[in-house]
Amino acid sequence: MSTDKDSLLISILVGKRGEVVSGEEMAQALGMSRVALHKRVEHLKAWGIPIRSIPRKGYVLEEIPDLLIPPIYLALLKSRQMGRPYHYLERVESTNRTAKALAHQGAPHGTLVVAESQTRGRGRLGRSWFSPKGENIYLSLILRPNISVMEVPQLTFLVSVALTQVIREKLQLDALIKWPNDVYIKGRKVAGILMEMETRERRSLFLVAGVGLNVNTPADGFPPEISTRATSLMVEGKQRYLRPQLLAWIMEALEVWYERFQTDQREDILRYWREHNFTLGKPVKLQGGRVGWAIGVTPQGALLVRRPGGSILSLGAGDVEVLE
Ligand code: BTN
Repeated sequence: MSTDKDSLLISILVGKRGEVVSGEEMAQALGMSRVALHKRVEHLKAWGIPIRSIPRKGYVLEEIPDLLIPPIYLALLKSRQMGRPYHYLERVESTNRTAKALAHQGAPHGTLVVAESQTRGRGRLGRSWFSPKGENIYLSLILRPNISVMEVPQLTFLVSVALTQVIREKLQLDALIKWPNDVYIKGRKVAGILMEMETRERRSLFLVAGVGLNVNTPADGFPPEISTRATSLMVEGKQRYLRPQLLAWIMEALEVWYERFQTDQREDILRYWREHNFTLGKPVKLQGGRVGWAIGVTPQGALLVRRPGGSILSLGAGDVEVLE
């Protein structure tokens, strides 16, 4: 199938959502005959895209379907570079793994890998990531900044900042960042980031930013071991959300923040992180059971924790539990 033509066809219908577009107008815009157009529409219907053909009038898209297939996602995407080329997979071991293999083969900056489900979705610190089919977003984005490994944490902050901003501004949900890069709503985790990198002489060759975002998993859909700590956008917003639209917004936000990262506006990233976090100023439990008070975060992304005796620890990596 020609993804470009299908995306264009769908974007014409998306633009006129709910209104009928005449077959003639559409065929002309796509540079094809009415018969060829008819065939294409039938093909898209078979993919589950709800296009209605109205005899002698034209076509109408009844609603944007919740599918991450290329023609839907690309019809909604407004970014220039981030999120293209787009690799869509039904089922994969881990999108990060696939993205790394593509990066090794030379895939460009901005390449996006998305799967409907993962059989071995990976989390940070050797954990796994719950990845059921068709409900959520599992994405891996290839980035090729020319930076030293010391700068990588700032880039990881950038990803949690972009995600948080989309959830807050587009969905009006109260998302906050937990150090280092988890996105939480009302004390429960809704998204996680796994950043992996390939380096040469302490400079990054490429990075793969893996994001798992719980979108439409119902409250009783999480496995028991995470059910008290995890949430989804649907649980919090009490409605289903359209994954291709969310994915396009995330790529657009990442493009804007990445531009700031590249043009010496990194302070803005840290500022947004600080203003929308729920770790600083709180008592925290470190791995290994020690407790302290989270008092700051350095420009390199380390968490500063004041211990009961007054000494200050700088945590470069790992995890903390926020004790509310
Ligand atoms: C975390 O532990 O919080 C990070 C979770 C990251 C999960 C995502 S899902 C898409 C990508 N592919 C993976 O295998 N992991 C990341």
